[in-house]
Amino acid sequence: MNKLIAAIGLTWIAAGTAQAGGNVDAGKALTEKYACFSCHGKDYNTPIDPSYPKLAGQHRDYLAHALTAYQRGDGANGRNNAIMTGQVKPLSKQDIQDIAAYLHSLPTTLATHR
Ligand code: HEC
Repeated sequence: MNKLIAAIGLTWIAAGTAQAGGNVDAGKALTEKYACFSCHGKDYNTPIDPSYPKLAGQHRDYLAHALTAYQRGDGANGRNNAIMTGQVKPLSKQDIQDIAAYLHSLPTTLATHR
């Protein structure tokens, strides 16, 4: 019985990961390509400046929303930040989903996780 519950649980987790529309491996490759760790820290828990946000384990939809907001810039639902505006320029919608899935998958020190 416990095994059955565990199997159902794992299936549910796997389905959740796939459903998100973000690919963790592709997201990892993108963060390496664009060196996001150079500011946010190599484990995404230890940013180089205390005013820079921790990203590891942050909610996936929040991360995707934030990156999209930097792309929008000024205006409705936009974020204007001199540093991040440049960072998000080359990202496609799929890139954003992949990056969000990857960062969400990382072990976190954020109190908001789970
Ligand atoms: C040069 C330093 C730097 C680099 C490189 C950088 N970031 Fe950032 N990032 C920041 C700063 C500073 C902020 C906070 C900006 C603000 O106040 O809105 C931020 C904010 C964010 C946020 C919003 C987090 C939140 O809690 O709202 C996300 C998501 C993010 N960055 C992802 C990335 C990704 C993905 C990359 C690589 C493509 C990247 N960053 C590269 C400095 C950087």
